[in-house]
Amino acid sequence: MSIHAAHRRTVSDQAAPHPAIRVEGVTVHYGEVLALDSASLTLEHARICGLIGMNGSGKSTLFKAIMGMIKPDAGRVLINGAPPAKARKEGGIGYVPQSEDVDWQFPLSVRDVVMMGRYGHQGFTRRPSKADRAAVDEALDRVELSEFAGRQIGQLSGGQKKRAFVARGIAQGATMMLLDEPFAGVDKRSEVTISRLLRELASDGCTILISTHDLHALPELCDEAVLLMRRVLMHGAPDLVLQPENLAMAFGLDVLNRGLPEEGGRRHAAARTENRG
Ligand SMILES: Nc1ncnc2c1ncn2[C@@H]1O[C@H](COP(=O)(O)OP(=O)(O)OP(=O)(O)O)[C@@H](O)[C@H]1O
Ligand SMILES: [Mg+2]
Repeated sequence: MSIHAAHRRTVSDQAAPHPAIRVEGVTVHYGEVLALDSASLTLEHARICGLIGMNGSGKSTLFKAIMGMIKPDAGRVLINGAPPAKARKEGGIGYVPQSEDVDWQFPLSVRDVVMMGRYGHQGFTRRPSKADRAAVDEALDRVELSEFAGRQIGQLSGGQKKRAFVARGIAQGATMMLLDEPFAGVDKRSEVTISRLLRELASDGCTILISTHDLHALPELCDEAVLLMRRVLMHGAPDLVLQPENLAMAFGLDVLNRGLPEEGGRRHAAARTENRG
């Protein structure tokens, strides 16, 4: 077990009086656009939860509200019973943003990005200690990116970029990881590496919320699933949430007849979910 796993284990082994994440009636507008409408969600510790919903259903907005990057117009978010700012300050939440939300031209190397996860561990000077460098090296190794450490972050493939951000969360010893579409545009190797890491992190006590359009992979990766359409329509076991009639609530009735469109234009067969239990 790594030092970070040991740290997380200590956190999760303590009696947890509060859920890991609690979203209470959160409403968010962007100008006239209602992005979240009294959304509520409770996530217990060390669970992997898949967040699904159509484009524009509010998934990224929910992540930003949980991170405290957006202030809700109504409702509140509690991380371990406290406002998100506290968890962020303590480095408790790792965030893998949706690719569209990142400036990939920014002059940072892969190592710099992962080192950002150590800021909370550093003093005013932000001078990395031996322990910081060791944590970054270990995280890079775990996501299989050691050989790319010196490369500018924008010069990685899509899957490698996602892995770099996962490494940042690992280096910071996050007890919670929010991943916004980590499998979008990602090849099989990155998908397998990321999935394996998420399982390892969860078994070390990390709570994981992950948005995805890959409904096939969801039951294998996730302990539970949430259907979002501005509000949480359903939250339960993946097999239940993925029932076609439930997907139809979130994606429209087409899914019952024609299957879901998959990224890249391929189609999900609704039959796959229909065959389930
Ligand atoms: N910065 C913004 N300014 C104005 N409207 C926004 C902004 N960000 C998101 N929206 C709108 O808010 C709604 C929710 O957007 P959000 O990005 O949360 O959806 P999403 O579920 O993450 O979608 P996708 O699957 O495409 O990533 C959409 O209608 C979107 O157009
Ligand atoms: Mg999004």
